Amino acid sequence: MDQETLTKETLEHTISQFFLKDVVSGLSAVNKSLSSKYFYDKHGHALFQQIMQLPEYYLTRCEMDIFQHKTAELAFAIGDEPFDLIELGAGDGTKSFHLLKHLSEHSATFTYMPIDISGNILRFLETNLKADIKDLDIKCFQGDYFEMMAKAVKQSERKKVVLMLGGNLGNMTAMETQNFCRSLYKHLKPGDRAIIGFDLKKHPRTILNAYDDVKGITAAFNLNLLSRINRELDADFDLDQFEHYQTYDPATGECRSYLVSLITQTVTLKNETFSFEKDETIFMEVSRKFSKEDITGLALESGFRHVTQIMDSKHWFTDSVWEIT
Ligand code: AVI
Repeated sequence: MDQETLTKETLEHTISQFFLKDVVSGLSAVNKSLSSKYFYDKHGHALFQQIMQLPEYYLTRCEMDIFQHKTAELAFAIGDEPFDLIELGAGDGTKSFHLLKHLSEHSATFTYMPIDISGNILRFLETNLKADIKDLDIKCFQGDYFEMMAKAVKQSERKKVVLMLGGNLGNMTAMETQNFCRSLYKHLKPGDRAIIGFDLKKHPRTILNAYDDVKGITAAFNLNLLSRINRELDADFDLDQFEHYQTYDPATGECRSYLVSLITQTVTLKNETFSFEKDETIFMEVSRKFSKEDITGLALESGFRHVTQIMDSKHWFTDSVWEIT
């Protein structure tokens, strides 16, 4: 076996050990839970692509509206001096493309530094962007957000602007969100900025419907994690005996997804057995929704100054601009 294969195998083994540990500890708790960070295997990614196309799932369209129609405002929020644009979880860059094109057409001096866990995505992104945006200066970083950010900030003395789109911060608990924003702060210097996507509080039914679509794609997205556990961790979840259940609490802004056990049953995973009572739930994911005040408060408590909110035409989603003072 060559060194590269060996390293890849060791890495895969380590990842699957973390997965096993997290699943066992989640299913052993009094209130069972699974972590939504494991939703995204190949099938989970494909289901998420379908979610983003659903009529009920407005988040992607709203943020796209901002990037297509408020591009000049975004560019203005960045300022004129030369900068490095670091994007956390760049994905296929469909939204940021509009900003990059605008910046390049207006002769801004910048280097685009996308960070993503997937090397394939980054290669695809670089090829496509270079084909569409003449002279784009791009340097990709593959790996964990903050490990890669530490490398990215060292590339130059220029001002840094960090993009975190998609409302991904909403999938963290309040404590995780605070920790994340504080880490972001620690990696930056005075004058640096962050542009962060947040889904705003709105009519509770609009929010609930976005996560409880009539076609059942979100249900399949949640159930897919049980299939993944069956396949990768040698478990025997019977997917027909679990049902997706979604809640939204307008007071806290928490939209929560659960899987409900339809019968009393046991599930084995490697050599462990987990019992489920009829109607017992597994908490799967939180998608937190924010008021404008929640966002300014979060900026302040993490050490940032809140600069401005750039909203879509319906005022359902915001890309919030923060600065280190
Ligand atoms: C990735 N994240 C912002 C999505 C959200 O809206 O919370 C994940 C998702 N879960 C169900 N539908 C979409």
